[in-house]
Amino acid sequence: MYTDTRQDYAVFVHAIKQEMGLDLTFYKETQMKRRILGFMEKKQIKNYHAFLRKLRVDSQLMAEFMGMITINVTQFFRNRSKWDTLEKQVLPRLIQEKFSKLRVWSAACSSGEEAYTLSIILKRIQDNLNYEILATDIEAEILKRAVLGRYSEKQLIEMTDAEILASFEKKEAYYQIEKDIQKPVRFRKHDLLVDEYDRGFDLIVCRNVLIYFTAEGKEVVYQKFQKALRPGGVLFIGGSEQILNPAGYGFESVDNFFYRKIR
Ligand SMILES: C[S@@+](CC[C@H](N)C(=O)[O-])C[C@H]1O[C@@H](n2cnc3c(N)ncnc32)[C@H](O)[C@@H]1O
Repeated sequence: MYTDTRQDYAVFVHAIKQEMGLDLTFYKETQMKRRILGFMEKKQIKNYHAFLRKLRVDSQLMAEFMGMITINVTQFFRNRSKWDTLEKQVLPRLIQEKFSKLRVWSAACSSGEEAYTLSIILKRIQDNLNYEILATDIEAEILKRAVLGRYSEKQLIEMTDAEILASFEKKEAYYQIEKDIQKPVRFRKHDLLVDEYDRGFDLIVCRNVLIYFTAEGKEVVYQKFQKALRPGGVLFIGGSEQILNPAGYGFESVDNFFYRKIR
């Protein structure tokens, strides 16, 4: 196996950022290197230099590389109890405070399960609720799957039969998300570490991606999320991603994994 030096890695990361716009500096280095080297070994590429040369000319390899870096594991109602808190405690208050359209952002949405889970919940909280969901991810390929809205049974294991019946049309080989759940969701490619953030969100959901980021990466993202929320808006993060000093970012903790913007 190729043993790299720190400098080799730094040069590789710099080139990837310059040429492909992908900033790996905010991802935990040991974890990221292990994955990249494993990928290179599988492809029988002998060093970073050769890997870069191949990436420049082989778009299929580039797409595969992106897929490997991003880890797209997800499902509907992932960690169910947190979604119950969102539905019963957090959303009713946000809806009550809002007289115009409720704006929600599912950031790093992978193949769409999280964004559609939000839509399922918002629809059943209030039948004629006016809302829109922006759903973004760094990976273009995964967003194509999200737009299709086709899922296997495995993605639905946290859902009850009644929820499945109400949210999907059962086809022979897959479950198709219902049109009225899909309609308020808009998918767009977005890199949390590089791109501008929209503003005025009532709720931002960003789960199971910040665990891959360094402390500095997380800090940048928390600050940007705070600006992207309206005052009183809520950030919902993943099970292993507690914010240690929420007040330092202008948040107060509402419940475990929910933070409200205080200024
Ligand atoms: C494990 S999935 C989480 C999906 C969903 N949020 C959930 O909790 O089930 C992580 C997602 O983060 C995306 N991602 C990784 N780095 C990103 C970045 N810099 N900006 C936006 N999305 C990113 C990946 O493409 C992947 O789809």
